[in-house]
Amino acid sequence: MDWGMKNRLSRLIQPDGKALFLPIDHGYFQGPTTKLEKPGETLKPLLPYADAVMLTRGVLRNCVDPTVNKPIILRVSGGTSMVGEDLANEAITTSIEEIIRLNASAASMSIFVGSKYEHQTLTNLAKLVDACENYGIPVMAVTAVGKELEKRTARYLALCCRIAAELGARVVKTYYCEEGFEKVVDGCPVPVVIAGGPKTETQQEVFDFVYDGMQKGAIGVNLGRNIWQTEHPVAAIRAIRAIIHENYTAKEANDLYEQIKAGKL
Ligand code: R5P
Repeated sequence: MDWGMKNRLSRLIQPDGKALFLPIDHGYFQGPTTKLEKPGETLKPLLPYADAVMLTRGVLRNCVDPTVNKPIILRVSGGTSMVGEDLANEAITTSIEEIIRLNASAASMSIFVGSKYEHQTLTNLAKLVDACENYGIPVMAVTAVGKELEKRTARYLALCCRIAAELGARVVKTYYCEEGFEKVVDGCPVPVVIAGGPKTETQQEVFDFVYDGMQKGAIGVNLGRNIWQTEHPVAAIRAIRAIIHENYTAKEANDLYEQIKAGKL
């Protein structure tokens, strides 16, 4: 692996081999999502606790201070919306020159395996990998399910993750599943990070699945709504960080969350 690629990956994945990526890219198809109406304000208090931030070029340019020293994972696929015909019909929306100009540490895009647009999104991934590898930029593939959240079974996720890695993704982001998540990770030859999905009922549920996913081999998370849509985003991200980087159990993380919430820490 060339120096540039190694250097970028080492900014994203920390010396302990773990990573907490914070995505605020949801507006690219959801518009001004709840609690992300002003992305820069949402991000500010959370930034110190994230290892990298995932977002689009528009939010990066307009809402993030360029002097900030935090690796950027640039979302470079899109072209669909919540009210459009099919969320899977994505194209690559950002050129390689723009990825370099914005000094991204990685580029990221969605694949929609099993959808009508499977071939299109998978060949998009292969082409993005070709372009990015030329410049030592890692690609993180996102195994997306659109609105069909019930698709998140181990069998399906393992299929998606493996295909993404085979096409050249250096990191794969996927959903957690209770049954057989270890098979998803084991079948994928590159590091796997867990996405959060829609906000859960309780905070404990998030700590439980992050902890379990890490035990089963994930290197960390790329988790958004279950941080910044919660009532106490800083407490949530600090507790999740403790699971990822300090080996906290889910219960210990919840205790930490409660203490930060109560202003004791
Ligand atoms: C999709 O909207 C984005 O790619 C998000 O980055 C991804 O879904 C992770 O965010 P969340 O934890 O909110 O699902």
